[in-house]
Amino acid sequence: MATRRTFLQLAAASTAALVLPEWTPSLRAAVQPSPALTPFVDALPFPRVAHPTGVVPRSNKAGKIVPTALYQLTMMEFSRKLHRDLRPTRVWGYDASFPGPTFETRVGEPILVKWINRLPVTHLLPVDRFLDGADASVPQVRTVTHLHGGHVPPESDGGPEDWFPRGESATYYYPNNQEATTLWYHDHAMGITRLNVAAGLAGFYLLRDDAESSLNLPSGAQEVPLVIQDRLFNTSGEIVYPRSEFEGSLEHPGPWIPEYFGDTVMVNGKVWPYLEVEPRLYRFRVLNGSNARFYRLALSSGQPMFQIGSDGGLLDEPVQLNELLIAPGERADILVDFAGHAGETITVENDAPAPFPDGGDVDVPLIMQFRVVLPLSGASATIPSQLRATPIERLDPQQAAQTRDIAFFESVDGDDEPITMTLNGRTFGDPVEEKPTFGSVEVWRFLNTTGDAHPLHLHLVQFQVLGRQAFDVEAYLGSGALVANGPALLPEPNERGWKDTVQTNPGEITTIIARFGGYRGKYVYHCHILEHEDNQMMRPFEVV
Ligand code: C2O
Ligand code: CU
Ligand code: CU
Repeated sequence: MATRRTFLQLAAASTAALVLPEWTPSLRAAVQPSPALTPFVDALPFPRVAHPTGVVPRSNKAGKIVPTALYQLTMMEFSRKLHRDLRPTRVWGYDASFPGPTFETRVGEPILVKWINRLPVTHLLPVDRFLDGADASVPQVRTVTHLHGGHVPPESDGGPEDWFPRGESATYYYPNNQEATTLWYHDHAMGITRLNVAAGLAGFYLLRDDAESSLNLPSGAQEVPLVIQDRLFNTSGEIVYPRSEFEGSLEHPGPWIPEYFGDTVMVNGKVWPYLEVEPRLYRFRVLNGSNARFYRLALSSGQPMFQIGSDGGLLDEPVQLNELLIAPGERADILVDFAGHAGETITVENDAPAPFPDGGDVDVPLIMQFRVVLPLSGASATIPSQLRATPIERLDPQQAAQTRDIAFFESVDGDDEPITMTLNGRTFGDPVEEKPTFGSVEVWRFLNTTGDAHPLHLHLVQFQVLGRQAFDVEAYLGSGALVANGPALLPEPNERGWKDTVQTNPGEITTIIARFGGYRGKYVYHCHILEHEDNQMMRPFEVV
């Protein structure tokens, strides 16, 4: 207890000394690079589809008994070949699948999922007992599954404090009463989310509906989920999660590091895979499932991508992109047309520095490869010009019942090494301050005083991005005066749909608008850089 108080006091005390902190490369210098692995020697795997184990009667909101599909997924440790030349890697997954099995669900058809923890007693990766909620009084291995982007009742949300230990389970209800989109599930246990996800506890959850089906988008083998995750490995093939080189000092009592960056990239659980494709249109459901790394993706052929959906559903119309910037937690529904590229080899490249946007190096310039070598097996789908029967409802800031400011602070030690990140200087356990009234619309402004971009995520809701504007960080830190000093920028065209995670740039105010409806109760919002989330950059909110 004493240590924790000191830790938080230190964090609070150093807030005054905040100036845009620089990344110190010392941490990465201390880490052994992963064994050199030849890219593009393994085929891209498709995570298998989850199947229900039965149907159970469940009464819905109206009290009507509805037969509801029940799935059961067991979290376990097992080994997988992640690359031709890498020894099998111990990973964590669901039902021996890494990434976890993909849910195929439909709007209006709720499901139940029993999440079962059969993991070992000891964590695969270094637990930091000094982090809030991860101290020695709780088991080292704890899990709770959260459906990211899901509009679900609070008791099924899988919030950080709802964790359960090995041998236990939780059955969650997913109503599927939101727009068709790409959701994902991942672990969320308090203080160890970054480790549970890095070990492998994540998977896709696809939600479909008739409107989307009527668009005749590419399907079957032409619809490909892609989860991108960076990792470090040692020569034995084990996942490496480095400990802080400052561990043991007063300011850094535990092994926590500010961001996990791997030098090796997995897509769907294979290192730098390739996918053989036909010369036709493909749909890629891209998920950045990395702990901390942003990606700015482009195709080596120079051809465009067409984004048709964001986190929470389809856009009004396709947005042509030459590059796709995607932050941890975000999804992008993308169409790529390989017609006219028969025989070509097209590499997915990345040029985002880490940390983003002003970090050291682009240390993972390659992601995966497409080989346009398969014969055409059918007629290609076409890119629809309109994606929705009625345009997206625009939430109106005039209707907002509240405008809330959420400032991000990073406190650093004498070596400029981050100690913690906070939202409004609060800790997770401080009293709830954000209490939207049920059904009301609110505007939230994220004020990023730090040197890094943070992907901010809200549970329960899909929101809209209103815009961004640079502000005077020094003035804000000095006197609390919020002085905009740049032009008001509209969201990017591919951000003009429903979002649950938004990129907030350093030195900018990022403004979102949301309607807090559907369910009352406690949820969380947080940075989706999982190291930040685990170290205070997460707060509760409550719909009242
Ligand atoms: Cu993707 Cu609160 O998480
Ligand atoms: Cu979430
Ligand atoms: Cu962050």
